[in-house]
Amino acid sequence: MSNDFFSMRGIVKQYQMGDEVSTVLKGIDLDIEEGEFLSILGPSGSGKSTLMNIIGCLDTPTAGTYTLHGRLIRDLDQKQLARIRSREIGFIFQQFQLLPRLNAIKNVELPLVYAGVSQRERTRRAREMLMRVGLKDRMEHFPNQLSGGQQQRVAIARALATNPTLLLADEPTGALDQATGEQVMSLFHELHDEGRTIVMITHDLKIAKHASRVVSILDGELSEGVRYD
Ligand SMILES: Nc1ncnc2c1ncn2[C@@H]1O[C@H](COP(=O)(O)OP(=O)(O)OP(=O)(O)O)[C@@H](O)[C@H]1O
Ligand SMILES: [Mg+2]
Repeated sequence: MSNDFFSMRGIVKQYQMGDEVSTVLKGIDLDIEEGEFLSILGPSGSGKSTLMNIIGCLDTPTAGTYTLHGRLIRDLDQKQLARIRSREIGFIFQQFQLLPRLNAIKNVELPLVYAGVSQRERTRRAREMLMRVGLKDRMEHFPNQLSGGQQQRVAIARALATNPTLLLADEPTGALDQATGEQVMSLFHELHDEGRTIVMITHDLKIAKHASRVVSILDGELSEGVRYD
């Protein structure tokens, strides 16, 4: 089985540590359908961030093939990879990573600056995305004037701004209390219902179960279903 949207075959990642080679990803096969909400569940050190960096085209595997939207990633040059990262993947991180000196609108506009969108259109889209995540009355607020859950919603609006192919979230509720984390998950459910493709990485079984499909990563090997709690 292979698919044109997202397919990984035999992904290996090794690091040379002095004389020793450590194999962090041991031949990952993964297919994701467009519109899927997938979580990748695994304990600390299992290889989640290493895999996320490859999925997000921030890093390249030692071996194996990765196809995204019909393109073989290893054939692309740095410029093409940068373009995929800035326009086709929406990144959501545990620590939100908003710029403290920019208000919510300006933070959401940022990826559109890199995409070369005009100021007028940027502001229009940023406002639309902030409305979408329920922050209509917080648009002019700076990050330190927002709660953790609101900051994460700004970060989600920023990830949505370029209308990416894939939303990629690494422990998106890791810095939030349980109730606020649940609110962020209900927003993920809404985005999934709208047809967005979401890949969420977590060590938290309860959070992972929000996805419609769970795969587990243990010691650099991936398998279907919950294998860790
Ligand atoms: N640059 C590197 N050089 C050598 N080893 C590395 C490097 N990056 C990661 N590793 C090793 O790869 C393994 C997996 O790391 P990774 O960061 O992917 O884990 P993780 O599942 O994201 O963990 P956590 O839940 O703690 O974030 C770890 O044993 C780590 O020490
Ligand atoms: Mg990690």
